[in-house]
Amino acid sequence: MIPVVETLIDGVPAACLPLADRAIHYGDGLFETVAVRDGRPEFWERHMRRLQQGCVRLGIPAPDSGCLAGEMWRLVRHRRRAVLKIIVSRGGGGRGYRPPEEPAPTRILALHPWPEWPDTYMRDGVTVRICTTRLGRNPRLAGIKHLNRLEQVLARGEWHDRSIAEGLMLDTAGELVEGTTTNLFLVRKGRVQTPDLSQCGVAGIMREVVMEMAREQDLPCETGHFTPADLASAEEIFLTNSLVGIWPVRRVDAEEFPAPGPITLLLQNHLEKIRSGFSP
Ligand SMILES: Cc1ncc(COP(=O)(O)O)c(C=O)c1O
Repeated sequence: MIPVVETLIDGVPAACLPLADRAIHYGDGLFETVAVRDGRPEFWERHMRRLQQGCVRLGIPAPDSGCLAGEMWRLVRHRRRAVLKIIVSRGGGGRGYRPPEEPAPTRILALHPWPEWPDTYMRDGVTVRICTTRLGRNPRLAGIKHLNRLEQVLARGEWHDRSIAEGLMLDTAGELVEGTTTNLFLVRKGRVQTPDLSQCGVAGIMREVVMEMAREQDLPCETGHFTPADLASAEEIFLTNSLVGIWPVRRVDAEEFPAPGPITLLLQNHLEKIRSGFSP
């Protein structure tokens, strides 16, 4: 059983979604995963902005931000550490793909326990593998944190070895895109680099934060096109998401990397300062 602490569906405590909801049938919606620390959501404004932009791109009327914030506070207040998952679906809509002309979106806010990862992941780095499942290229969906996650489900099912923390995914053209639940960064010749996401992948909140932090630290930071062969020339590799923050990568399959490298460490320290100051 998935240990959900508390759930609000359209503002009402509930545990069941109506069977007609398009989230179930088509993954017709999007989601946000927000870290909660000391009763406050981290990077709330950024999550709300991405949710809003995703709704515009999918043609789903975005929920009122004041309403979402009110529901969020009902759940996160007094929680020391938790994960808040927000799902917005297009709502009910009968059988068939055709979206309803006047959708009535569903809001689901669910509070989950904070996942415990070994301290060593952050401190000494993680081991990752390269997945065989590929990400399809589709600029129409690229960057959006939509609910269609079958590619990640299949990729995550590829390994059972608990010493492997994450899997890297390539797209159908063979370019590196991201991890199954993280964005990927390389440091090469002192430059902070992350895959371009114009064809597929999720434009992560932590990716955005890291890119801004790097630029503030006068580190050259750019998006680009990389293949697994480029990993060999990386001085440092790290992964990001809203929950883990920054995980240094110490090993990709058989290849070892310094972890954390100096730039990864600098960014980790800077992120910790931002997080403890609760900057949006
Ligand atoms: C496929 C995928 N890419 C990237 C990310 C990182 O996104 P964020 O930094 O917003 O947590 C996630 C997070 O769940 C993800 O599922």
